[in-house]
Amino acid sequence: MNQVPVVHVARGEVTERARSIGDILVDSGKLTAEQVELIIQRQKQENTPFGEAAMALSLLTKDDILFALAKQYDYSYLSTEESFLSTDLVVAYKPFSAVGENLRAVRAQLGLRWFGADPLRKALAIVSPQRGEGKSFLAANLAVAFAQQGMKTLLIDADLRNPTQQNIFRLGRSPGLSGVLSERVSVATAIESVHGLPDLFVLPAGPLPPNPGELLGRPSFSRALLHAVGNFDVVLVDTPAGDFCSDAEIIASRTGAAMLVTRKNQSVLPKAMKYARSLKDMGVSMVGAILNDA
Ligand SMILES: Nc1ncnc2c1ncn2[C@@H]1O[C@H](COP(=O)(O)OP(=O)(O)O)[C@@H](O)[C@H]1O
Ligand SMILES: [Mg+2]
Repeated sequence: MNQVPVVHVARGEVTERARSIGDILVDSGKLTAEQVELIIQRQKQENTPFGEAAMALSLLTKDDILFALAKQYDYSYLSTEESFLSTDLVVAYKPFSAVGENLRAVRAQLGLRWFGADPLRKALAIVSPQRGEGKSFLAANLAVAFAQQGMKTLLIDADLRNPTQQNIFRLGRSPGLSGVLSERVSVATAIESVHGLPDLFVLPAGPLPPNPGELLGRPSFSRALLHAVGNFDVVLVDTPAGDFCSDAEIIASRTGAAMLVTRKNQSVLPKAMKYARSLKDMGVSMVGAILNDA
């Protein structure tokens, strides 16, 4: 079998790297022990790698092998059979897809323009004027992409009007950000871990409050962000659409930076540009713009 001889220890345990691809695929239910034996026989006869022998026998697809390789190299990757998180998390389920490649390019740009430039620059709001332009989708996938790079990442759902991150990450009832802002719970207790993505954490919105704008304007929000940047490498903040309320302006003025999302065939470009300009006039650094769904 393709036994990788390196054993490295991380987070207090022997990682997947010590395991063979066959073992990983058996454990995740994609192969039986008998099928592994068949593949090994074929491997010996043809002198081919494990993955090729398995594909020749139609026991595995290319995606199955990428999944096992990613696990072997300790790369956070979800399989639809193993994970119940939303399939909207394209970067986690299909990291080698075009969307995955594009998001890694965005991650690299953000690393150069914002996160890498100064150790204090850790928080970024994801903004757009309209609903449905992809703020939540991109915030979630970018958070996964940063976590896959080994950066301890926190995604805050600060859309206290129409929150979606608790559905994407299938989080149960949590006191969330609204609980933190109303000082019912501490930030540390409201932050949730994400199964299968060890470097990713989510602070969901929590129960919908009647006064989201007022809550976000409280010092408890600044304190929550301070806690976040003190404990994480990257903090991404999902926001409500700018057209409906000034919440995103409050959030971006606290994070100090924002990334504008526009969506192909949906966004009105002059409106998006005007929105970005208004944030800039408030002193927010506009770190970049994403054309979603291109
Ligand atoms: N690039 C994309 N590929 C596939 N689906 C997308 C993409 N961007 C957004 N969506 C989908 O479009 C819908 C609206 O996106 P969402 O992120 O919720 O918008 P917003 O947060 O800006 O209101 C969601 O159902 C989301 O899954
Ligand atoms: Mg949203």
